[in-house]
Amino acid sequence: MAQSGDGADKTAHLSGPGFGPAPGVALLSRNENPYGPSEKAVAAGCAATEQGAYYADRSLLYLVDMIAERNRIPREFVSVSAGSGEGLCAAAQSWTRDGGKIAAPTLFWDTTVRYAERQGAKIVTAPMKSDLGVDLDALEAVIDDNVSLVHITNPNNPTGMLLDPDELRAFIGRIEKRATVLVDEAYNELTDIPETASMVDLVRDGKNVIVSRTFSKIYGMAGLRVGYLMARADLTARIRSNIMSWISGPGLAAAIASYDDQEFLAESRARIIEGREMVIAAAQSHGLVCLPSQTNFAFVNVKGDANMFRDKMASERIYIRGAYQGLPNWSRVSMGRLEDLSRYIAALPKAIAAG
Ligand SMILES: Cc1ncc(COP(=O)(O)O)c(C=O)c1O
Repeated sequence: MAQSGDGADKTAHLSGPGFGPAPGVALLSRNENPYGPSEKAVAAGCAATEQGAYYADRSLLYLVDMIAERNRIPREFVSVSAGSGEGLCAAAQSWTRDGGKIAAPTLFWDTTVRYAERQGAKIVTAPMKSDLGVDLDALEAVIDDNVSLVHITNPNNPTGMLLDPDELRAFIGRIEKRATVLVDEAYNELTDIPETASMVDLVRDGKNVIVSRTFSKIYGMAGLRVGYLMARADLTARIRSNIMSWISGPGLAAAIASYDDQEFLAESRARIIEGREMVIAAAQSHGLVCLPSQTNFAFVNVKGDANMFRDKMASERIYIRGAYQGLPNWSRVSMGRLEDLSRYIAALPKAIAAG
């Protein structure tokens, strides 16, 4: 999905009438995970396709219960949506319908907030720290009585950086009495400290907090469209009332089959981190600065013009992101297959020269 304000994703058309990257394309622009879906997910999804004549309501409840049990929350705290994006859109829409504003850092995955903006919602943003981290003090400073929702992506996209969990918990403790705090944890499982980094314990404690997760990233199921939000029952009721889709049976089956597949998750994570280390080491060997990523992408300062850098890569059918608004020298690259990352690395000298 595109992120507004960045060197827009121009790769969507490249796959043609099919699924996945076209032959010869290194698709490193969308933070997809090529190591999924797991074998179990594929088998379950195929079996569910054979039962595609029937609405998949039982399996939806089954997945809700799995999520509730793992997170030690009641099932009334869970809303499943077509990717976390849909649930995030539903929350943004619901929280701003009566004129409430959304507060967020300048740099984050803003697609769903922009959706609400197109329906008339007002967004207020706070500047980033000089190291491009989320500045919680600056964010607090823009929260007035009209802000109903505070949106934080942690780890953040496109920076890949993780907030200090204690600082984020303290921030939420101060804010949640005034506004709902939404923490998008799409990349949580890829961090070094998934348990500590997650704010799901605050959901469990009944705080005014929403935590969002997805099967699109570590589970490698972006095309299958399953995500979920966790929040107190009253907040979840508001989110659910704005969710429009019914999740597809194959997506649900794949999510159920892979949710607890620890072997697959460990393998997926290990390969992504291997790729990330490889890319960051290569970029650094060319004198480029990379932010400390806790995700399946790296944010690289290419020193020159990030759009020219991106276009040079694209001329070799390696697709990455160009400049973000206000950051003309930064380019994001996703951890695709290792052979595709090797192509990115091999093309670095020419792309740097072009930038
Ligand atoms: C931070 C973040 N949240 C949510 C999403 C959306 O994921 P999905 O709708 O596939 O769950 C993305 C996609 O790139 C993302 O980067």
